[in-house]
Amino acid sequence: MSAAPPHAAAPAPGNAVGHGAGDAAGPLLLTGGSGRLGRELRALLPDALAPTRAELDVTDVVSVRAAFARLGPAVVVHAAAFTDVPAAERERAACWRVNVLGTRHVADACAEVGALLVHVSTDYVFWGDTDPERAARGGYRESDPTGPVRNAYALSKLAAEDEARRAPRHLIVRTSFRPRAWPYATGFTDVRTSQAYVDEIAPELALLARHAAELVDAGVRVLHVAGPPTTVFELARRRKPDVAPATKAEAGVALPDDVVLDSGMWRSWRARLAPRR
Ligand SMILES: NC(=O)c1ccc[n+]([C@@H]2O[C@H](COP(=O)([O-])OP(=O)(O)OC[C@H]3O[C@@H](n4cnc5c(N)ncnc54)[C@H](OP(=O)(O)O)[C@@H]3O)[C@@H](O)[C@H]2O)c1
Repeated sequence: MSAAPPHAAAPAPGNAVGHGAGDAAGPLLLTGGSGRLGRELRALLPDALAPTRAELDVTDVVSVRAAFARLGPAVVVHAAAFTDVPAAERERAACWRVNVLGTRHVADACAEVGALLVHVSTDYVFWGDTDPERAARGGYRESDPTGPVRNAYALSKLAAEDEARRAPRHLIVRTSFRPRAWPYATGFTDVRTSQAYVDEIAPELALLARHAAELVDAGVRVLHVAGPPTTVFELARRRKPDVAPATKAEAGVALPDDVVLDSGMWRSWRARLAPRR
């Protein structure tokens, strides 16, 4: 980590988010607030502004600009995305429009109003082959090269990371999560992952969002926030003990073998950040 130790920012009043020294405060804006992650974040960040898609359609630059001008965010957590991996194969243009163009609009709007962008990305930006050396050191690090990718959704999220970098103050957070309850009858035994359940990841991301300015001011631009290494099957078994084993060949879409993320950098930051509720 090239970053200096984090400092404790003063709590900000109302729905304002504490910024780094010398910066103005303003509200936290959440895109994708009706989604799996977004709903959890709204509960954890009750002061966040979470416009609906009708109020802020990320594919529509006019809608994005108008919402940003009206709401004046200091920090934007961009969780809106096209996330249906199999559907993305069939609807590539729609997926690209939401994930890539949408992120460009959000990043440019952040630049216009001086907001910090926390961009929610994914472990799928990595190829995810089986690599014993990488597994032994704990998985993909922030500095590891991304790509090539396995599917259309992953490609759009990889391109979206580049769009997010258009915001001068940005933090790309690669994560992976499942809904609170395992939704399938089966779980893959041949996919290694650091996925966790959304109610386990969301508190981490909420803490990160509150401290995003400290992280960015310290030079952090990419962070991995995930759970411990496991298989998809073992993850499923934690919440659905009768889940049946299956293999990724049954997914109907190309998936990686091992996309475990090393979250060590986040863990060392987290240990020094006092949770603020
Ligand atoms: N779920 C995972 O396994 C996973 C893993 C790694 C990373 N991620 C990333 O985490 C983030 C959140 O994922 P999620 O699983 O919570 O997603 P989700 O449940 O599919 O929700 C997607 C959200 O995006 C909104 N959205 C879609 N198109 C939009 C548009 N044109 N304008 C504005 N909002 C739009 C949806 O609004 P509507 O309700 O109006 O449709 C919804 O609120 C995404 O960036 C995703 O790529 C997810």
